Amino acid sequence: MNIRSLLAVSKVIPVLELNDPSTAPDVARALCKGGASVLEITLRTPEAFDVMTAIKENVPEAIVGAGTVNTEAQIARCKDLNLDFMVSPGFHKPLFDAAKESGIPYLPGIATASELLAASHAGLDTLKFFPAVAAGGITMLKALNGPYGDIKFCPTGGINSDNCKDFLNLPNVICVGGSWIAPKQLIQAQAWDEVTALATAANS
Ligand code: 3PG
Repeated sequence: MNIRSLLAVSKVIPVLELNDPSTAPDVARALCKGGASVLEITLRTPEAFDVMTAIKENVPEAIVGAGTVNTEAQIARCKDLNLDFMVSPGFHKPLFDAAKESGIPYLPGIATASELLAASHAGLDTLKFFPAVAAGGITMLKALNGPYGDIKFCPTGGINSDNCKDFLNLPNVICVGGSWIAPKQLIQAQAWDEVTALATAANS
């Protein structure tokens, strides 16, 4: 599956910062149950790779990717784990080249027209828009759709239950990403039904 098809699987991609491989499959199951089966696990905890392994082994319906991918060493690790996709906050050509070499679908981020142009010249037509709200939000995405209507986005950063539908209604948005779907307090409380309800509401 290429990155654009993968992003079309679900309207919302939960962005997860998890540090407990033993409960990670429960989080993943709760999200999949709510229709959010494309999961971005950020590489912001020492346990992130173990978390992804646990989800891949126990929740086959989940599509598991790494977020906050900033180095080639991390890409090599993602390849070892046979991850389904990778996400970076920004665009850096050498990192893109390594991602392409890995064969893993890749979603780098952009926040300006210049970054978009660089990514487009590298051959990309599907990008993360990050940090979405801070970088101009809906107004910025509408402005980019004029000159770059063939580029589609997954906006992430500042998306929540109040604004996600407005983002999803834009013609150049495929899906949105965010942490609001699985807040840390609900994960700590193991409130899986509530996590499922948040995912269901975002996908409806
Ligand atoms: C991130 O990288 O932290 C994601 O963009 C999630 O942002 P959010 O917490 O504002 O949803």
